[in-house]
Amino acid sequence: MDAILKTEELWKIYRQGRVDVPALCGVNFAVPAGEFVAVMGPSGCGKSTLLHVIGGLARATRGHVLVDGNDLAEMGDAERTKLRRHKVGFVFQRFNLLPALDTRGNIALAQHIHGNGFDPHRFSVVANMLGLSERLRHRPAELSGGEQQRVAIARAIINEPKILLADEPTGSLDSKNSELVLAMLKQLNKELGQTIVMITHNPEAAAYADRVVHMRDGVIVDGAQAA
Ligand SMILES: Nc1ncnc2c1ncn2[C@@H]1O[C@H](COP(=O)(O)OP(=O)(O)OP(=O)(O)O)[C@@H](O)[C@H]1O
Ligand SMILES: [Mg+2]
Repeated sequence: MDAILKTEELWKIYRQGRVDVPALCGVNFAVPAGEFVAVMGPSGCGKSTLLHVIGGLARATRGHVLVDGNDLAEMGDAERTKLRRHKVGFVFQRFNLLPALDTRGNIALAQHIHGNGFDPHRFSVVANMLGLSERLRHRPAELSGGEQQRVAIARAIINEPKILLADEPTGSLDSKNSELVLAMLKQLNKELGQTIVMITHNPEAAAYADRVVHMRDGVIVDGAQAA
């Protein structure tokens, strides 16, 4: 299997005062390039922690994370940041857009930070696919929640990351906007081959994925292997 993302015996233990809180307890997980995976499980089982560690936002306590063949455990912070910037896109439940910038500005800023110049072709492909072409001059406060999340997704994928990581991307949306956002994620996956790992509490959202992984108490209990 050509895994774009792989974890090996991945542990994350948070230290809280004198207490160790184990959040990941030996996770083995692999995602082939082009797959759309949903991660489900009860609150506190370690889903967000897994996403943060595989995306290089947090460091593992033990074990390995391979992103496109690069082992995050062997990297310093600067190297890890660089890899994250080039290979990973994040989407969160809260959209985290910059309020002073319009849609175009929020997306273009990501291209600027990445070090690419403005790429008009990629910009229009992404804006069209996310249904934002008529909203490019709107600031976040002038957009609906669903539109804001679509801007956040556009920003996350504009630089063609190898992996898109989404932590409850429909958690703040009503059912109509949730369906729209999920349909667009599915389209990105099918038409652009975007690899996606999406955390969700909603079985209807998980049904958009090719595979559903179930976590409990810091381990994957079902769905660890690709079909
Ligand atoms: N920064 C932190 N410091 C200490 N403990 C933490 C920290 N972040 C998470 N935890 C703990 O690690 C465990 C896993 O948390 P995590 O946020 O990964 O769960 P989750 O599955 O995403 O839950 P939810 O569905 O509620 O978002 C929990 O027991 C949580 O309290
Ligand atoms: Mg979470």
